[in-house]
Amino acid sequence: MNSNNTAQADIGLIGLAVMGSNLALNIAENGYRVAVNNRTASKIDNFVAEAGELRDQIVPNADLGDFVRSIKQPRSIIIMVKAGAPVDMTIEALLPHLDEGDAIIEAGNANYRDSVRRFEELTPKGIGFLGIGVSGGEEGARHGPSIMVGGSKAQWHNAEEVLTAISAKFNGESCCAYLGSSGAGHFVKTIHNGIEYADMQMIAEVYGVMRDGLNMSALACAEVFKSWNEGPLNSYLIEITGLVLEAVDDKTGKPLVELILDKAGQKGTGRWSAIAAQELGVAATTIEGAVAARSMSALKDERIAAEKIYGASDSVDISVTLKQLEQALLAGKIAAYAQGFAILSKASEDNKWDLPLGTIARIWRAGCIIRSGFLDQMAASYDKGVAVNLMVAPEFVEVMQQNQGALRQVVAAGALGAYPMPCLGAALAYFDSYRQSRGTANIIQGQRDFFGAHGFVLMDRDGEQHGDWPSTLD
Ligand code: ATR
Repeated sequence: MNSNNTAQADIGLIGLAVMGSNLALNIAENGYRVAVNNRTASKIDNFVAEAGELRDQIVPNADLGDFVRSIKQPRSIIIMVKAGAPVDMTIEALLPHLDEGDAIIEAGNANYRDSVRRFEELTPKGIGFLGIGVSGGEEGARHGPSIMVGGSKAQWHNAEEVLTAISAKFNGESCCAYLGSSGAGHFVKTIHNGIEYADMQMIAEVYGVMRDGLNMSALACAEVFKSWNEGPLNSYLIEITGLVLEAVDDKTGKPLVELILDKAGQKGTGRWSAIAAQELGVAATTIEGAVAARSMSALKDERIAAEKIYGASDSVDISVTLKQLEQALLAGKIAAYAQGFAILSKASEDNKWDLPLGTIARIWRAGCIIRSGFLDQMAASYDKGVAVNLMVAPEFVEVMQQNQGALRQVVAAGALGAYPMPCLGAALAYFDSYRQSRGTANIIQGQRDFFGAHGFVLMDRDGEQHGDWPSTLD
Protein backbone atom coordinates (compact mmCIF):
# COMPACT_ATOMS: atom_id res chain seq x y z
CA MET A 1 0.00 0.00 0.00
CA ASN A 2 1.52 3.32 -1.00
CA SER A 3 0.35 5.93 1.51
CA ASN A 4 2.75 8.63 0.29
CA ASN A 5 1.59 8.58 -3.28
CA THR A 6 2.14 11.98 -4.80
CA ALA A 7 0.17 11.12 -7.90
CA GLN A 8 -2.76 13.41 -8.38
CA ALA A 9 -5.91 11.46 -8.97
CA ASP A 10 -8.72 13.05 -11.00
CA ILE A 11 -11.39 11.73 -8.66
CA GLY A 12 -11.69 9.64 -5.49
CA LEU A 13 -13.92 6.70 -4.66
CA ILE A 14 -14.67 5.19 -1.26
CA GLY A 15 -16.32 1.77 -0.99
CA LEU A 16 -14.95 -1.13 -2.99
CA ALA A 17 -17.87 -3.56 -2.84
CA VAL A 18 -19.37 -4.72 -6.14
CA MET A 19 -20.82 -1.42 -7.40
CA GLY A 20 -17.91 0.73 -6.18
CA SER A 21 -15.25 -1.55 -7.66
CA ASN A 22 -16.96 -1.62 -11.04
CA LEU A 23 -17.42 2.12 -11.06
CA ALA A 24 -13.74 2.64 -10.18
CA LEU A 25 -12.64 0.32 -13.02
CA ASN A 26 -14.97 2.15 -15.40
CA ILE A 27 -13.35 5.47 -14.40
CA ALA A 28 -9.86 4.02 -14.84
CA GLU A 29 -10.73 2.51 -18.21
CA ASN A 30 -11.88 5.90 -19.42
CA GLY A 31 -8.39 7.23 -18.85
CA TYR A 32 -8.83 8.97 -15.49
CA ARG A 33 -6.75 8.36 -12.39
CA VAL A 34 -8.96 7.22 -9.56
CA ALA A 35 -7.96 7.28 -5.89
CA VAL A 36 -9.60 4.42 -3.97
CA ASN A 37 -10.26 3.75 -0.31
CA ASN A 38 -12.27 1.23 1.67
CA ARG A 39 -12.98 0.74 5.37
CA THR A 40 -11.47 -2.75 5.27
CA ALA A 41 -7.99 -2.15 3.85
CA SER A 42 -7.49 -5.70 2.54
CA LYS A 43 -10.24 -5.05 -0.01
CA ILE A 44 -8.16 -2.22 -1.45
CA ASP A 45 -5.25 -4.62 -1.98
CA ASN A 46 -7.54 -7.21 -3.56
CA PHE A 47 -9.06 -4.58 -5.82
CA VAL A 48 -5.68 -3.38 -7.04
CA ALA A 49 -4.44 -6.95 -7.50
CA GLU A 50 -7.41 -7.70 -9.74
CA ALA A 51 -7.32 -4.46 -11.71
CA GLY A 52 -4.98 -5.90 -14.36
CA GLU A 53 -3.73 -3.36 -16.85
CA LEU A 54 -5.85 -0.63 -15.29
CA ARG A 55 -3.59 -0.82 -12.22
CA ASP A 56 -1.59 2.26 -13.31
CA GLN A 57 -4.72 4.41 -13.26
CA ILE A 58 -5.49 3.50 -9.64
CA VAL A 59 -4.15 5.38 -6.62
CA PRO A 60 -4.82 3.18 -3.57
CA ASN A 61 -4.74 4.58 -0.05
CA ALA A 62 -5.92 2.94 3.15
CA ASP A 63 -5.37 6.12 5.14
CA LEU A 64 -8.28 8.49 4.61
CA GLY A 65 -6.14 11.64 4.90
CA ASP A 66 -3.60 10.38 2.37
CA PHE A 67 -6.45 9.28 0.13
CA VAL A 68 -7.95 12.77 0.17
CA ARG A 69 -4.57 14.44 -0.39
CA SER A 70 -3.95 12.26 -3.46
CA ILE A 71 -6.90 13.84 -5.27
CA LYS A 72 -6.66 17.02 -7.38
CA GLN A 73 -8.38 20.10 -5.97
CA PRO A 74 -11.19 20.99 -5.99
CA ARG A 75 -11.79 17.36 -5.11
CA SER A 76 -14.63 15.13 -6.21
CA ILE A 77 -15.05 12.09 -3.97
CA ILE A 78 -17.56 9.39 -4.78
CA ILE A 79 -18.98 7.48 -1.82
CA MET A 80 -20.37 4.04 -2.67
CA VAL A 81 -20.82 2.44 0.74
CA LYS A 82 -23.83 0.71 2.29
CA ALA A 83 -26.84 3.05 2.27
CA GLY A 84 -27.94 4.79 5.48
CA ALA A 85 -25.77 5.39 8.55
CA PRO A 86 -22.52 4.16 6.89
CA VAL A 87 -22.82 7.05 4.41
CA ASP A 88 -23.12 9.60 7.23
CA MET A 89 -20.23 7.98 9.09
CA THR A 90 -18.07 8.15 5.98
CA ILE A 91 -18.96 11.81 5.41
CA GLU A 92 -18.12 12.61 9.05
CA ALA A 93 -14.75 10.88 8.73
CA LEU A 94 -13.96 12.70 5.49
CA LEU A 95 -14.90 16.22 6.59
CA PRO A 96 -11.73 17.10 8.60
CA HIS A 97 -9.62 16.31 5.52
CA LEU A 98 -11.62 18.32 2.98
CA ASP A 99 -11.11 21.88 1.77
CA GLU A 100 -13.71 24.43 0.81
CA GLY A 101 -15.05 23.77 -2.68
CA ASP A 102 -14.46 20.01 -2.53
CA ALA A 103 -17.44 17.79 -3.22
CA ILE A 104 -18.84 14.57 -1.85
CA ILE A 105 -20.68 12.56 -4.48
CA GLU A 106 -23.01 10.04 -2.90
CA ALA A 107 -23.71 7.33 -5.45
CA GLY A 108 -25.51 4.67 -3.40
CA ASN A 109 -29.18 3.82 -3.30
CA ALA A 110 -30.02 6.72 -0.99
CA ASN A 111 -33.46 7.83 0.05
CA TYR A 112 -33.74 11.25 -1.54
CA ARG A 113 -34.66 12.77 1.82
CA ASP A 114 -31.22 11.78 3.10
CA SER A 115 -29.68 13.50 0.08
CA VAL A 116 -31.70 16.65 0.80
CA ARG A 117 -30.47 16.57 4.41
CA ARG A 118 -26.84 15.93 3.45
CA PHE A 119 -26.94 18.72 0.89
CA GLU A 120 -28.30 21.09 3.53
CA GLU A 121 -25.73 20.03 6.11
CA LEU A 122 -22.71 20.27 3.82
CA THR A 123 -23.53 23.42 1.86
CA PRO A 124 -23.01 25.83 4.83
CA LYS A 125 -19.65 24.13 5.46
CA GLY A 126 -18.50 25.08 1.95
CA ILE A 127 -18.52 21.44 0.85
CA GLY A 128 -20.50 20.54 -2.23
CA PHE A 129 -22.87 17.61 -2.14
CA LEU A 130 -24.01 15.68 -5.17
CA GLY A 131 -26.52 12.86 -4.76
CA ILE A 132 -26.33 10.75 -7.90
CA GLY A 133 -28.62 7.91 -8.90
CA VAL A 134 -26.68 5.21 -10.70
CA SER A 135 -28.73 2.64 -12.57
CA GLY A 136 -27.67 -0.39 -14.56
CA GLY A 137 -26.53 -2.84 -11.92
CA GLU A 138 -23.07 -4.33 -11.82
CA GLU A 139 -22.63 -4.42 -15.59
CA GLY A 140 -23.85 -0.85 -15.94
CA ALA A 141 -21.42 0.38 -13.28
CA ARG A 142 -18.55 -1.30 -15.13
CA HIS A 143 -19.40 -0.41 -18.72
CA GLY A 144 -21.73 2.58 -18.59
CA PRO A 145 -24.62 3.33 -16.23
CA SER A 146 -27.35 5.91 -16.50
CA ILE A 147 -26.39 8.67 -14.04
CA MET A 148 -28.98 11.02 -12.53
CA VAL A 149 -27.26 13.94 -10.88
CA GLY A 150 -28.65 16.26 -8.21
CA GLY A 151 -27.04 18.71 -5.80
CA SER A 152 -24.45 21.49 -5.85
CA LYS A 153 -24.26 22.81 -9.38
CA ALA A 154 -20.78 24.38 -9.10
CA GLN A 155 -19.23 21.11 -7.96
CA TRP A 156 -21.15 19.22 -10.65
CA HIS A 157 -19.08 21.06 -13.21
CA ASN A 158 -15.88 19.76 -11.56
CA ALA A 159 -17.05 16.16 -11.83
CA GLU A 160 -19.00 16.50 -15.08
CA GLU A 161 -16.23 15.36 -17.40
CA VAL A 162 -15.54 12.11 -15.55
CA LEU A 163 -19.20 11.25 -14.87
CA THR A 164 -20.14 11.97 -18.48
CA ALA A 165 -17.27 9.83 -19.76
CA ILE A 166 -18.20 6.78 -17.67
CA SER A 167 -21.93 6.93 -18.40
CA ALA A 168 -23.85 4.88 -20.95
CA LYS A 169 -24.24 6.36 -24.42
CA PHE A 170 -27.34 6.32 -26.61
CA ASN A 171 -26.41 7.02 -30.23
CA GLY A 172 -23.31 8.75 -28.89
CA GLU A 173 -25.25 10.94 -26.42
CA SER A 174 -24.27 10.59 -22.76
CA CYS A 175 -26.86 9.18 -20.34
CA CYS A 176 -25.68 11.42 -17.51
CA ALA A 177 -27.20 14.78 -16.70
CA TYR A 178 -27.55 17.33 -13.94
CA LEU A 179 -31.25 17.35 -13.10
CA GLY A 180 -31.62 19.77 -10.21
CA SER A 181 -30.48 20.87 -6.78
CA SER A 182 -30.44 19.01 -3.48
CA GLY A 183 -32.04 15.54 -3.63
CA ALA A 184 -33.22 15.76 -7.25
CA GLY A 185 -30.86 13.04 -8.55
CA HIS A 186 -31.85 10.43 -6.01
CA PHE A 187 -35.51 11.38 -6.33
CA VAL A 188 -35.39 10.76 -10.08
CA LYS A 189 -33.62 7.44 -9.45
CA THR A 190 -36.38 6.48 -7.01
CA ILE A 191 -39.08 7.15 -9.59
CA HIS A 192 -37.02 5.26 -12.17
CA ASN A 193 -37.21 2.28 -9.85
CA GLY A 194 -40.96 2.73 -9.34
CA ILE A 195 -41.45 2.60 -13.10
CA GLU A 196 -39.11 -0.41 -13.23
CA TYR A 197 -41.30 -2.22 -10.68
CA ALA A 198 -44.40 -1.49 -12.81
CA ASP A 199 -42.72 -2.60 -16.04
CA MET A 200 -41.60 -5.85 -14.41
CA GLN A 201 -44.96 -6.58 -12.78
CA MET A 202 -46.90 -5.99 -16.01
CA ILE A 203 -44.57 -8.42 -17.77
CA ALA A 204 -45.18 -10.91 -14.95
CA GLU A 205 -48.97 -10.50 -15.30
CA VAL A 206 -48.81 -11.22 -19.02
CA TYR A 207 -46.49 -14.19 -18.39
CA GLY A 208 -49.07 -15.52 -15.90
CA VAL A 209 -51.76 -15.50 -18.60
CA MET A 210 -49.45 -17.27 -21.05
CA ARG A 211 -48.38 -19.90 -18.53
CA ASP A 212 -51.69 -20.66 -16.84
CA GLY A 213 -54.35 -19.37 -19.22
CA LEU A 214 -52.79 -20.34 -22.53
CA ASN A 215 -50.86 -23.33 -21.11
CA MET A 216 -47.65 -22.26 -22.82
CA SER A 217 -44.29 -23.79 -21.92
CA ALA A 218 -41.50 -21.55 -20.64
CA LEU A 219 -39.69 -22.01 -23.94
CA ALA A 220 -42.77 -21.01 -25.93
CA CYS A 221 -43.12 -17.91 -23.72
CA ALA A 222 -39.43 -17.14 -24.32
CA GLU A 223 -40.00 -17.16 -28.07
CA VAL A 224 -42.88 -14.71 -27.70
CA PHE A 225 -40.82 -12.28 -25.60
CA LYS A 226 -37.99 -12.52 -28.12
CA SER A 227 -40.34 -11.60 -30.94
CA TRP A 228 -41.83 -8.76 -28.88
CA ASN A 229 -38.33 -7.42 -28.37
CA GLU A 230 -38.20 -6.81 -32.12
CA GLY A 231 -41.32 -4.62 -31.99
CA PRO A 232 -42.63 -1.58 -30.09
CA LEU A 233 -41.96 -3.23 -26.70
CA ASN A 234 -38.23 -3.43 -27.49
CA SER A 235 -36.46 -2.97 -24.16
CA TYR A 236 -33.91 -4.45 -21.82
CA LEU A 237 -36.58 -5.91 -19.53
CA ILE A 238 -38.41 -7.67 -22.39
CA GLU A 239 -35.07 -8.97 -23.67
CA ILE A 240 -33.96 -10.41 -20.32
CA THR A 241 -37.43 -11.88 -19.71
CA GLY A 242 -36.94 -13.96 -22.87
CA LEU A 243 -33.51 -15.03 -21.65
CA VAL A 244 -34.77 -15.89 -18.16
CA LEU A 245 -37.58 -17.98 -19.66
CA GLU A 246 -35.28 -20.04 -21.85
CA ALA A 247 -32.71 -20.81 -19.14
CA VAL A 248 -32.53 -24.47 -18.14
CA ASP A 249 -31.65 -25.86 -14.70
CA ASP A 250 -28.47 -27.97 -15.02
CA LYS A 251 -29.52 -30.44 -12.34
CA THR A 252 -33.03 -31.30 -13.50
CA GLY A 253 -33.05 -30.18 -17.12
CA LYS A 254 -36.25 -28.27 -16.36
CA PRO A 255 -36.84 -24.61 -17.23
CA LEU A 256 -35.14 -22.68 -14.43
CA VAL A 257 -38.03 -20.23 -14.13
CA GLU A 258 -40.35 -23.05 -13.10
CA LEU A 259 -38.13 -23.90 -10.17
CA ILE A 260 -37.72 -20.33 -8.92
CA LEU A 261 -39.83 -19.62 -5.82
CA ASP A 262 -42.58 -17.08 -6.57
CA LYS A 263 -41.64 -14.66 -3.77
CA ALA A 264 -40.15 -11.37 -5.02
CA GLY A 265 -37.61 -9.43 -3.01
CA GLN A 266 -37.42 -5.67 -2.76
CA LYS A 267 -34.86 -3.25 -1.45
CA GLY A 268 -37.25 -0.35 -0.86
CA THR A 269 -36.84 2.07 -3.73
CA GLY A 270 -40.10 0.98 -5.38
CA ARG A 271 -41.86 1.51 -2.07
CA TRP A 272 -40.27 4.95 -1.75
CA SER A 273 -41.71 5.93 -5.12
CA ALA A 274 -45.21 4.83 -4.08
CA ILE A 275 -44.80 6.77 -0.81
CA ALA A 276 -43.62 9.84 -2.75
CA ALA A 277 -46.68 9.61 -5.01
CA GLN A 278 -48.97 9.49 -1.99
CA GLU A 279 -47.19 12.33 -0.24
CA LEU A 280 -47.35 14.49 -3.35
CA GLY A 281 -50.99 13.61 -3.99
CA VAL A 282 -50.29 12.11 -7.42
CA ALA A 283 -52.32 9.17 -8.72
CA ALA A 284 -49.77 6.44 -9.42
CA THR A 285 -51.79 3.27 -8.95
CA THR A 286 -49.86 1.17 -11.46
CA ILE A 287 -46.61 1.81 -9.57
CA GLU A 288 -48.35 1.27 -6.23
CA GLY A 289 -49.87 -1.94 -7.59
CA ALA A 290 -46.42 -3.24 -8.46
CA VAL A 291 -45.12 -2.57 -4.95
CA ALA A 292 -48.20 -4.23 -3.43
CA ALA A 293 -47.78 -7.22 -5.75
CA ARG A 294 -44.30 -7.84 -4.33
CA SER A 295 -45.70 -7.71 -0.81
CA MET A 296 -48.46 -10.13 -1.83
CA SER A 297 -45.91 -12.44 -3.41
CA ALA A 298 -44.21 -12.76 -0.03
CA LEU A 299 -47.36 -14.35 1.48
CA LYS A 300 -46.67 -17.74 -0.07
CA ASP A 301 -48.11 -19.85 2.77
CA GLU A 302 -51.30 -17.77 2.98
CA ARG A 303 -51.73 -17.98 -0.79
CA ILE A 304 -51.38 -21.76 -0.72
CA ALA A 305 -54.03 -21.96 2.00
CA ALA A 306 -56.41 -19.59 0.19
CA GLU A 307 -56.10 -21.46 -3.10
CA LYS A 308 -57.32 -24.59 -1.32
CA ILE A 309 -60.48 -22.69 -0.41
CA TYR A 310 -61.20 -20.92 -3.70
CA GLY A 311 -59.50 -23.06 -6.33
CA ALA A 312 -56.70 -22.17 -8.72
CA SER A 313 -57.06 -19.56 -11.42
CA ASP A 314 -55.79 -21.93 -14.10
CA SER A 315 -59.00 -23.93 -13.86
CA VAL A 316 -60.69 -21.24 -15.94
CA ASP A 317 -60.01 -20.86 -19.66
CA ILE A 318 -58.96 -17.49 -20.95
CA SER A 319 -59.57 -16.21 -24.44
CA VAL A 320 -56.93 -13.65 -25.34
CA THR A 321 -54.44 -13.63 -28.17
CA LEU A 322 -50.70 -13.08 -27.92
CA LYS A 323 -51.18 -9.94 -30.01
CA GLN A 324 -53.64 -8.60 -27.43
CA LEU A 325 -51.16 -9.33 -24.62
CA GLU A 326 -48.45 -7.41 -26.48
CA GLN A 327 -50.77 -4.48 -27.08
CA ALA A 328 -52.02 -4.51 -23.48
CA LEU A 329 -48.42 -4.32 -22.26
CA LEU A 330 -47.77 -1.34 -24.48
CA ALA A 331 -50.87 0.54 -23.30
CA GLY A 332 -50.09 -0.35 -19.67
CA LYS A 333 -46.56 0.92 -20.13
CA ILE A 334 -47.80 4.30 -21.32
CA ALA A 335 -49.99 4.59 -18.22
CA ALA A 336 -47.12 3.58 -15.92
CA TYR A 337 -44.68 6.07 -17.46
CA ALA A 338 -47.36 8.76 -17.42
CA GLN A 339 -47.67 8.17 -13.66
CA GLY A 340 -43.93 8.20 -13.08
CA PHE A 341 -43.52 11.44 -14.98
CA ALA A 342 -46.53 12.94 -13.20
CA ILE A 343 -44.78 12.24 -9.87
CA LEU A 344 -41.58 13.85 -11.20
CA SER A 345 -43.51 16.85 -12.43
CA LYS A 346 -45.28 17.45 -9.10
CA ALA A 347 -42.09 16.91 -7.07
CA SER A 348 -40.29 19.35 -9.32
CA GLU A 349 -42.95 21.97 -8.72
CA ASP A 350 -43.11 21.43 -4.94
CA ASN A 351 -39.33 21.35 -4.44
CA LYS A 352 -38.54 24.01 -7.07
CA TRP A 353 -36.16 21.57 -8.78
CA ASP A 354 -37.16 22.49 -12.32
CA LEU A 355 -36.63 18.88 -13.41
CA PRO A 356 -36.02 18.61 -17.17
CA LEU A 357 -38.46 15.80 -18.05
CA GLY A 358 -37.21 15.42 -21.64
CA THR A 359 -33.62 15.09 -20.42
CA ILE A 360 -34.70 12.46 -17.89
CA ALA A 361 -36.33 10.40 -20.66
CA ARG A 362 -33.16 10.88 -22.68
CA ILE A 363 -30.73 9.66 -19.99
CA TRP A 364 -32.93 6.61 -19.39
CA ARG A 365 -32.59 5.48 -23.02
CA ALA A 366 -29.41 3.49 -22.28
CA GLY A 367 -27.52 2.09 -19.30
CA CYS A 368 -30.44 1.73 -16.91
CA ILE A 369 -32.85 -1.13 -16.27
CA ILE A 370 -35.85 0.51 -17.96
CA ARG A 371 -33.90 1.41 -21.11
CA SER A 372 -35.99 1.05 -24.25
CA GLY A 373 -36.84 2.40 -27.66
CA PHE A 374 -40.04 3.70 -26.05
CA LEU A 375 -38.00 6.23 -24.03
CA ASP A 376 -36.50 7.57 -27.23
CA GLN A 377 -40.05 8.26 -28.45
CA MET A 378 -40.83 9.88 -25.09
CA ALA A 379 -37.78 12.12 -25.26
CA ALA A 380 -38.74 13.18 -28.80
CA SER A 381 -42.27 13.88 -27.61
CA TYR A 382 -41.03 16.08 -24.74
CA ASP A 383 -38.81 17.96 -27.21
CA LYS A 384 -41.94 19.09 -29.02
CA GLY A 385 -43.37 20.61 -25.84
CA VAL A 386 -44.33 19.09 -22.54
CA ALA A 387 -47.81 17.60 -22.50
CA VAL A 388 -49.64 17.79 -19.19
CA ASN A 389 -49.70 13.97 -19.13
CA LEU A 390 -47.98 11.48 -21.42
CA MET A 391 -51.35 9.94 -22.31
CA VAL A 392 -52.35 13.17 -24.06
CA ALA A 393 -49.02 13.79 -25.84
CA PRO A 394 -49.95 13.53 -29.55
CA GLU A 395 -47.53 10.66 -30.36
CA PHE A 396 -48.84 8.61 -27.47
CA VAL A 397 -52.52 9.38 -28.06
CA GLU A 398 -52.28 7.38 -31.25
CA VAL A 399 -50.53 4.46 -29.55
CA MET A 400 -53.07 4.51 -26.72
CA GLN A 401 -55.97 4.59 -29.14
CA GLN A 402 -54.59 1.62 -31.03
CA ASN A 403 -53.87 -0.47 -27.94
CA GLN A 404 -56.36 0.42 -25.23
CA GLY A 405 -58.93 -2.02 -26.64
CA ALA A 406 -56.51 -4.89 -26.10
CA LEU A 407 -55.74 -3.69 -22.58
CA ARG A 408 -59.47 -3.76 -21.90
CA GLN A 409 -59.81 -7.31 -23.33
CA VAL A 410 -56.87 -8.60 -21.33
CA VAL A 411 -57.97 -7.03 -18.04
CA ALA A 412 -61.55 -8.26 -18.58
CA ALA A 413 -60.32 -11.77 -19.34
CA GLY A 414 -58.06 -11.61 -16.30
CA ALA A 415 -61.00 -10.59 -14.10
CA LEU A 416 -63.22 -13.39 -15.42
CA GLY A 417 -60.49 -16.00 -15.24
CA ALA A 418 -59.11 -14.97 -11.83
CA TYR A 419 -55.70 -13.99 -13.18
CA PRO A 420 -54.51 -11.15 -10.95
CA MET A 421 -53.62 -7.95 -12.78
CA PRO A 422 -52.79 -5.39 -10.11
CA CYS A 423 -50.80 -3.31 -12.59
CA LEU A 424 -52.56 -3.79 -15.91
CA GLY A 425 -55.91 -3.39 -14.13
CA ALA A 426 -54.69 -0.22 -12.43
CA ALA A 427 -53.32 1.09 -15.72
CA LEU A 428 -56.72 0.66 -17.36
CA ALA A 429 -58.55 2.30 -14.45
CA TYR A 430 -56.03 5.18 -14.53
CA PHE A 431 -56.64 5.69 -18.24
CA ASP A 432 -60.41 5.49 -17.90
CA SER A 433 -60.45 7.87 -14.92
CA TYR A 434 -58.16 10.34 -16.66
CA ARG A 435 -60.25 10.57 -19.81
CA GLN A 436 -63.61 10.77 -18.02
CA SER A 437 -64.77 14.40 -18.09
CA ARG A 438 -67.66 13.73 -15.70
CA GLY A 439 -66.45 11.59 -12.84
CA THR A 440 -68.22 10.35 -9.74
CA ALA A 441 -66.59 12.49 -7.05
CA ASN A 442 -69.84 14.45 -6.79
CA ILE A 443 -71.23 11.61 -4.70
CA ILE A 444 -68.07 11.62 -2.55
CA GLN A 445 -68.56 15.33 -1.95
CA GLY A 446 -72.19 14.73 -1.01
CA GLN A 447 -71.18 12.04 1.45
CA ARG A 448 -68.42 14.20 2.94
CA ASP A 449 -70.80 17.07 3.47
CA PHE A 450 -73.44 14.75 4.93
CA PHE A 451 -71.24 13.33 7.67
CA GLY A 452 -68.68 16.07 8.12
CA ALA A 453 -70.12 19.33 6.71
CA HIS A 454 -67.06 19.55 4.44
CA GLY A 455 -68.96 21.55 1.81
CA PHE A 456 -69.19 21.22 -1.95
CA VAL A 457 -69.26 23.37 -5.06
CA LEU A 458 -72.36 23.49 -7.26
CA MET A 459 -71.60 23.83 -10.95
CA ASP A 460 -74.29 26.49 -11.47
CA ARG A 461 -73.43 28.64 -8.42
CA ASP A 462 -70.49 30.47 -6.86
CA GLY A 463 -69.01 29.68 -3.46
CA GLU A 464 -69.03 26.73 -1.12
CA GLN A 465 -72.40 25.14 -0.40
CA HIS A 466 -73.85 22.76 2.17
CA GLY A 467 -76.74 20.34 1.84
CA ASP A 468 -79.81 20.31 4.07
CA TRP A 469 -79.39 16.63 4.88
CA PRO A 470 -81.96 14.56 6.76
CA SER A 471 -81.06 13.08 10.13
CA THR A 472 -80.30 9.34 10.16
CA LEU A 473 -81.20 9.12 13.86
CA ASP A 474 -84.57 7.56 14.53
P1 ATR B 1 -22.14 -5.60 -0.21
O1 ATR B 1 -22.36 -4.67 -1.37
O2 ATR B 1 -21.04 -6.58 -0.45
O3 ATR B 1 -23.41 -6.20 0.33
P2 ATR B 1 -22.17 -3.72 1.96
O4 ATR B 1 -22.24 -4.32 3.30
O5 ATR B 1 -23.41 -3.12 1.38
O6 ATR B 1 -21.53 -4.76 0.96
O7 ATR B 1 -21.03 -2.64 1.97
C1 ATR B 1 -20.63 -2.01 0.81
C2 ATR B 1 -19.47 -1.11 1.13
O8 ATR B 1 -19.84 -0.26 2.22
C3 ATR B 1 -18.20 -1.82 1.52
O9 ATR B 1 -17.16 -1.12 0.89
C4 ATR B 1 -18.17 -1.63 3.01
O10 ATR B 1 -16.89 -1.58 3.58
P3 ATR B 1 -16.15 -2.91 4.12
O11 ATR B 1 -15.51 -3.51 2.93
O12 ATR B 1 -15.17 -2.40 5.10
O13 ATR B 1 -17.21 -3.78 4.73
C5 ATR B 1 -18.78 -0.27 3.13
N1 ATR B 1 -19.29 0.00 4.47
C6 ATR B 1 -20.29 -0.61 5.11
N2 ATR B 1 -20.48 -0.06 6.33
C7 ATR B 1 -19.57 0.93 6.45
C8 ATR B 1 -19.28 1.89 7.45
N3 ATR B 1 -19.98 1.94 8.58
N4 ATR B 1 -18.27 2.76 7.22
C9 ATR B 1 -17.58 2.73 6.08
N5 ATR B 1 -17.80 1.85 5.08
C10 ATR B 1 -18.79 0.98 5.25
